[in-house]
Amino acid sequence: MQERLDKVGNAMRDYFGDDQRRIDHALRVTGFAEEILQHEKADREVVIAAALLHDIGIREAERKYGSSAGDLQEREGPPVARGVLTSLGFDKAVIDEVCEIIGAHHSPGEVDTDNFRVIWDADWLVNLGDEFDVRDHGKTRDLVRKIFQTAAGKAIAERIYL
Ligand SMILES: [Fe+2]
Repeated sequence: MQERLDKVGNAMRDYFGDDQRRIDHALRVTGFAEEILQHEKADREVVIAAALLHDIGIREAERKYGSSAGDLQEREGPPVARGVLTSLGFDKAVIDEVCEIIGAHHSPGEVDTDNFRVIWDADWLVNLGDEFDVRDHGKTRDLVRKIFQTAAGKAIAERIYL
């Protein structure tokens, strides 16, 4: 399984090409997903594939609409991810679930699964400091409580941001 997941990582790198910022983001989210997986029950194959590919729709969103808005990424990501995962021989059920997660990764509550919650938290562990002023610990504590959906995600967020 790891070998095939490594190939997903390579495909993601190839797809983003010289866009090192996006490659780094995907790898950081994947690193946090790995850490959360050590503590939470979830399906590693689905979670890691989704982490690597979660923002894969950005390029098509920008090409077609000149925008990387969340809903456009959600629409454009799944077909690209499906192509990558199908060519690497992943099971249909895994592909369907990864695509479902990618298609909702900016929409909390749309997919209510353990696997989704790991991706949600891993992405927010990377993004929190960019999207909010985290210098005020009182406010940040409230944000962490509101945003994170797994116990491990919350604990890591507290370690990093508080
Ligand atoms: Fe992301």
